[in-house]
Order: sequence, then structure tokens, then C-alpha cells
Amino acid sequence: MLLNLIGAGRLGRTLARAWRDAGCCEIGAVLCRDAAHARAAVGFIGAGQPMTGLTGLPTAGLWLIATPDNAIAQVAGALAQAGGPCAADLVFHASGVLDAGVLAPLARQGATCGSLHPALSFAEPQRALGDLPGTAWAVEGDPAALPRLEALALALGGLPFRLAPGGKAAYHAATVVASNYLVTLNVLAQQLAVQAGLDAGTAAAVLGPLMRRTLDNVLALGPAAALTGPIARGDGATVARHLAVIDDMRLDAAYRTLGLATLPLTALPAESREALAGLLKLNTEATENTEARREHPQA
Ligand SMILES: NC(=O)c1ccc[n+]([C@@H]2O[C@H](COP(=O)([O-])OP(=O)(O)OC[C@H]3O[C@@H](n4cnc5c(N)ncnc54)[C@H](OP(=O)(O)O)[C@@H]3O)[C@@H](O)[C@H]2O)c1
Repeated sequence: MLLNLIGAGRLGRTLARAWRDAGCCEIGAVLCRDAAHARAAVGFIGAGQPMTGLTGLPTAGLWLIATPDNAIAQVAGALAQAGGPCAADLVFHASGVLDAGVLAPLARQGATCGSLHPALSFAEPQRALGDLPGTAWAVEGDPAALPRLEALALALGGLPFRLAPGGKAAYHAATVVASNYLVTLNVLAQQLAVQAGLDAGTAAAVLGPLMRRTLDNVLALGPAAALTGPIARGDGATVARHLAVIDDMRLDAAYRTLGLATLPLTALPAESREALAGLLKLNTEATENTEARREHPQA
């Protein structure tokens, strides 16, 4: 079976190479906007025909649209107009947030459409190849697409799971909270440690192992057993001391919001929870005033 790759950037070239190496497919078109990029992608994959336009594409059973998310709809429309994929062809993209609906013009022509999102960073294709085994893949789309997409994930040692229709945005938000916001939490914690007088290196040495061990604990023991600290103990006096020294409004809002989200994880009696909820209540007026001052410093 031939795979046409539309968008041979970091993810596209990595997956095309991995599927070819695994014997799942041969490679047809390898398409980028820039001819030199297309040639470099063919070099990395080890096969394929470098192309820069959607006309004259070879007939293929598999079509991966691996352009940036904001180009997928336009590429799907142009492919449909160019008479690209036809009935029985499997067309899929790899966006985390968009679903198969973005391929509607191709579905109307009878193609089987879906999406396949590996929960992995493809920052560096050679390194990503080694990380593919054991990676989770979110699969969604036409019922007929699902087993074929799952087989593609399994062929690379992946762990496919199905997403219900309408689930992509919430799934992608979950990955953002779990991954991107972990970075933000580390930075916010460092900011407080530096406020306490620690130099940046000491702050990193104190907080890094703490974060790692806490993540290990929550994954091994579950949230209720892993949660320690003043909110788990119902210690309002300590929470009040924290709030009194946090002088950055963004940090204050983050501390309060995460504290409120932590309350339901505790085994505290209702009155202790209510007392803490009162302490942690967001001071929206102060936040708005600070934002206004930030945007209009002269006002
Ligand atoms: N990177 C990741 O870690 C990752 C992880 C999971 C999912 N994804 C998903 O994978 C998809 C691709 O992401 P990526 O990071 O691989 O992107 P990328 O490295 O920026 O590569 C995008 C490719 O698409 C081509 N392209 C851009 N606009 C196009 C258009 N209008 N028509 C045809 N080709 C076009 C680019 O060509 P030129 O090279 O000529 O510019 C490039 O080859 C996205 O849906 C993304 O959400 C990415």
C-alpha cells in the first residue's frame, strides 16, 4: 500500500519513515511547500517523490495530512478539488485538537477519514523515532477508519485508544494541562523560591526532585494518598501566611485557583473545606485592577 504524505515536517517525515521501516507501506508523494524541504524529507524517510503541489499525486491507499493544524481544512478542500483520495482510501491527520470533521470534503467523495494523534513531542525526528514504542495514540473518526488507524499505531509499538465523537478538544486540553502547565507550575514555584532568597540553581535543586517524586506518588498511589500539605491538613493559618507574602497577582490567582481545585481531593469535614474555600476565594476585583494598571500604566 502506498502512503502519500502531505506536509513532511517533523511529525510527517518521522511517521512515514517509521511506517516504511515497519513494512506497513511504501512511500508515494512527499509534499512540502518548499522543494528543498521536500527533498530533505525524502532523504530522511529513505524513499518517496518530493513534490510541492497537489496536482499529479500518485494513486495511494493511505493519505496523511501532516501540515500545521490551521492548514488542514484548506489542504483537504484542495485535495478534494484536485481529485486526490477516492473511495476506500484512508485519509487522516495528526492534529491533537481537530477531529475528522475537518476532512469533510474528502469524506463527501467517499474517502474513509479519521485522525491519529500520538501523544509525543516530535521536536527532533531522529529522536522521536526512538520514542515511538510505548507512545499512546488517540484515534477518532469514521467507524471504518478506527481499526485501520489502530493497526498503524500498533505497528510502531504504540498504544492506541479511541476517543468518542466530540472529545478531541477536551482530550487536547488535558494534554496541555498535564504537559505544558507542568512547565508553568515549575516556573511559578521557582519564582516564589527566589522571592524567599534562594538563588535560581538552589531553587531548581529543591523543587525539581520534589516535583518528580510527587508525580511518581500520584501516578502510583492516586491523588488522595499522594496529596499532602496545608490544604490536605485543613491548615488555614498556613494558607493565609502564603497568601500574605505572594505579591504577584498572577501567582496569587494561580495559588487560589489550584487551591480551590485541591479542596475536593481532601478528606476534610465540610466546615474546614468551607473555611479554606473562603480564604482562597479569588479576589477578582484586585486582579482586574492590576490587569488594567498593566495595560494602561498612565491611567
Ligand atoms: N510536532 C509535534 O510534536 C506534534 C505532535 C503531535 C501532533 N502533531 C501534529 O502534526 C501535524 C504537523 O505538525 P509538525 O510539528 O510536524 O509541523 P511542521 O514541522 O511545521 O511541518 C509542517 C509541514 O507541512 C507543510 N505545509 C505547511 N503548510 C502547508 C500547506 N498549506 N500545504 C502543504 N504543505 C504545507 C510544511 O512545508 P514546508 O516545510 O515547506 O514549510 C511542512 O513540511 C499538526 O497537525 C500537529 O498538530 C505535531
